[in-house]
Amino acid sequence: MAKNYALILAAGKGTRMKTELPKCAFPILKKPMIEYIVESVERSRIHESYVVVGHQREVLEDLLDERAQFVYQPEQLGTGHAALCAKQSLGAKEGTTLILLGDMPLINEQIIDKILYTHHKFNNDLTVVTANFDDPEGYGRIIRDKYGKIQAIVEDANCTEDQRQINEVNTGLYAVDNQTLFKTLDFIEKNPYKNEYYLTDIVELMRNDYKVGTFTVRDKNRVMGINDLYAISIAEKFLRDEINRGHMLNGVSMINPETITIGHNVSIEGDVTINPNTTITGNSTIRKGAVIGPNTEIHNGTIHQNVKVKHSLIYDSAVHERSTVGPFAHLRNNANIGRDNRIGNFVEVKKSSTGPNTKASHLAYIGDTETGANVNFGCGSITVNYDGKEKHNTYIGDDVFIGCNTNLIAPITVEDNVFIAAGSTVTDDIPQGALAIARNRQINKADYTKHLVKPKPKNNGKK
Ligand code: UD1
Ligand code: CA
Repeated sequence: MAKNYALILAAGKGTRMKTELPKCAFPILKKPMIEYIVESVERSRIHESYVVVGHQREVLEDLLDERAQFVYQPEQLGTGHAALCAKQSLGAKEGTTLILLGDMPLINEQIIDKILYTHHKFNNDLTVVTANFDDPEGYGRIIRDKYGKIQAIVEDANCTEDQRQINEVNTGLYAVDNQTLFKTLDFIEKNPYKNEYYLTDIVELMRNDYKVGTFTVRDKNRVMGINDLYAISIAEKFLRDEINRGHMLNGVSMINPETITIGHNVSIEGDVTINPNTTITGNSTIRKGAVIGPNTEIHNGTIHQNVKVKHSLIYDSAVHERSTVGPFAHLRNNANIGRDNRIGNFVEVKKSSTGPNTKASHLAYIGDTETGANVNFGCGSITVNYDGKEKHNTYIGDDVFIGCNTNLIAPITVEDNVFIAAGSTVTDDIPQGALAIARNRQINKADYTKHLVKPKPKNNGKK
């Protein structure tokens, strides 16, 4: 059976972006553009995909890794040349190739499948995918003859005044018979205007000897091309609205949804409330009954049922049932907060796990620590995990009360049922059931203040 191939052109620098990162790796809602495209292709009726890389190729290769095959374009000589670079890998194969641009991240599998369907249904050799844009500036225009048949694509910069008025644009997507494509690409000549090989020239090269048709995409937002950072903001707004709408229809309530950003791979159960200025991205999961925000950022977080998080940052961490986080807490690097915990004001938890009913309500640092159940970290308690060279672990058992302003100098083990006096700097392990006091005894010097020299009045005795 003839196969469907995808050829994604992503070798360009993206000069108009004015950023260091190659354009197709630039993030939209914190996920690189190219990943959206590859994922939509994976969900479509395409069998194999090839990505053309060039400028900073290693960035894209690292991002996609095993998910695509790569074709190298050593010098960026235009979209026609980029496609031609795939000749060795693809040229001899029988089937249909869908050409996509690496800067159209909003494309989805439904559109891809519709294009392939139309291409095969009409027995086309080439199907050019077009859209009608209110503001077509920057896009190649579709030139049709008086019968409506496509004749050519003219780039914005090469348009005559009349052509510039045309609203039908080239989306940069084409379905094309694979072997015919590579035969034709050899004949594209350098466009003198920009000194580049334009892929769009295949229309003129094929229109007389082959069946060339068009397919017009109705959902035109989906085929917008990203050329600069303003376009990134438009794409983000589009995706944000669409994703938020989907969650709201699934029973997630959002207060001021225009200030809420939910990433593409986030799953949220019903009965969750999300308050303003909240961003949840990466592979995050939010379970039933949770209340998130305001002013909260979660990336790769798992938030279990009925957890409340406000004014806080959670990265690569989990929070279990009914716990509360914030205001102003920071969980990171595999913090695993047990059920019914309270992680409160200005508390940082790094690479640590806490047992049920543990509390650190104010001003604490918990790092490289494992605690049991019912541990209370008093205000200002710190697990001192770093000796200037290496990180060390702290183990704390069940039912431990850590008084305010305690330093636990790691490595250290605090056994079950221990009480640590406030202000202690604990350097030795504490056995089960003990009270540990690690600070100087208080000295009171009687009648001391009468010896203090009284400060002179500021006005030097003047009236
Ligand atoms: C292109 C089309 C234009 C269309 C628009 C749709 C051409 C000549 N123009 O213009 O008709 O309306 O897309 O968005 O095709 N690339 C390479 N190698 C290169 C040059 C580009 O791989 O040598 C890749 C880029 O990484 C990018 C894509 O091709 O992902 C498109 O290139 P870009 O320069 O953005 O083309 P446009 O000017 O937008
Ligand atoms: Ca573009």
